[in-house]
Amino acid sequence: MKSFDIRTKIYFGANSLERLSEIPYKRAMIVTDPFVVKSGMIKLITYRLEGSGIAFSVFSDVVPDPPIDKIVCGVKAMMEYQPDVIIAVGGGSAMDSAKAIREFGRQMSENGQNTALIAIPTTSGTGSEVTSFSVITDPQQKVKYPLVSDQLLPTEAILDAELVKSVPASVTADTGMDVFTHALEAYVSVNCNEFSAALVEKAIEIVGTFLLRSFYDNTDTHARQKMHVASCLAGLAFNSSSLGLNHGMAHQLGANFHIPHGRANAMLLPYIIEYNSEIDVHSKSKKEYKPVVRRYVNVAKLLGLTNFNQITTVRALVNWVQFMMKEMDIPLSVSQIGCCTEEEYMSKVSVMADAALADSCTATNPRVPNKVEIMEIYRKLW
Ligand SMILES: NC(=O)c1ccc[n+]([C@@H]2O[C@H](COP(=O)([O-])OP(=O)(O)OC[C@H]3O[C@@H](n4cnc5c(N)ncnc54)[C@H](O)[C@@H]3O)[C@@H](O)[C@H]2O)c1
Ligand SMILES: [Fe+2]
Repeated sequence: MKSFDIRTKIYFGANSLERLSEIPYKRAMIVTDPFVVKSGMIKLITYRLEGSGIAFSVFSDVVPDPPIDKIVCGVKAMMEYQPDVIIAVGGGSAMDSAKAIREFGRQMSENGQNTALIAIPTTSGTGSEVTSFSVITDPQQKVKYPLVSDQLLPTEAILDAELVKSVPASVTADTGMDVFTHALEAYVSVNCNEFSAALVEKAIEIVGTFLLRSFYDNTDTHARQKMHVASCLAGLAFNSSSLGLNHGMAHQLGANFHIPHGRANAMLLPYIIEYNSEIDVHSKSKKEYKPVVRRYVNVAKLLGLTNFNQITTVRALVNWVQFMMKEMDIPLSVSQIGCCTEEEYMSKVSVMADAALADSCTATNPRVPNKVEIMEIYRKLW
């Protein structure tokens, strides 16, 4: 038996931040990153709370790839302040931190009381505002692992593209490719269903038309609004059908080398598409293809990459990913990033492969990988 639901109420479109003027809460704890405070963006939130007489505190200690110790600090702040709502403002790191803080705070409170959570994304990428995932890093073990529970689902999400105007081009590129990876992995996941597929197809269509427009021109409000919605659609899709090996492997690149999440996903995509489809530059036509090939072909068609046969179409999809990366200045390999030496990278391949195998995202990949195959993909990525 399968089921599908959307539990987070979504406010979207122009002026959707106005929702904050009517929320039924009295004490808010804002969880955010230092950029949101320093840039003054937080005032878009706080002046609305002040206008409605809602008291608030600000926890702005969020860092990318949120580590456990910062979550612990957030839980302490929550226990002290006792908010009836947490408002997460930021990218995936702020939203994931807020989700984990709320959940651990709930588990530790005497009556297990539920605090509401309003998620307000300031990047168009993770879809975390509507997912039951929170990705936390253990810096000692150098592992990034997704916590998955319906208890993590935000109560409300507010998608106001006003907040993404300031996103720099490199973050637009990385987060935009994260949206694409969510959509693609949800579509080829073993748990894909008609509901998640419908959400994916719309998200892919939007990414194909609007990601480059957002990248080239951050004043293109229409494109930014569209990408903000696509990010949420892809989040809803993978919340239903989960992800795959691409994310399982990308998490380890984030934990070990702090490669931005969307960038790690983009770099892996060409290799994962080849691995899952069993189609590479040397492939010749076959009588029968794996079922996942039809899915990749559908995605290619949605992107307008109509082509001669299954092999040329899957190749066109891989070429499209690589073209997007080059166009948006995303490095194609770890060596191009320059975050570590080849020796440092290669010494981590085995532990990263173990962690990728254990990552809950990997479980729904359409092809069941083994450690040797994962290590090979990591090596190719250098
Ligand atoms: N929970 C989920 O469902 C889910 C899904 C995918 C990824 N993730 C996680 O989310 C994290 C990545 O999130 P992200 O890609 O949004 O990046 P992020 O939240 O780490 O932010 C990246 C950078 O962009 C800056 N930034 C954010 N908004 C900005 C704005 N409006 N203007 C200018 N700068 C801005 C931040 O300050 C930060 O320096 C990773 O930890 C990843 O594992 C979670
Ligand atoms: Fe992601």
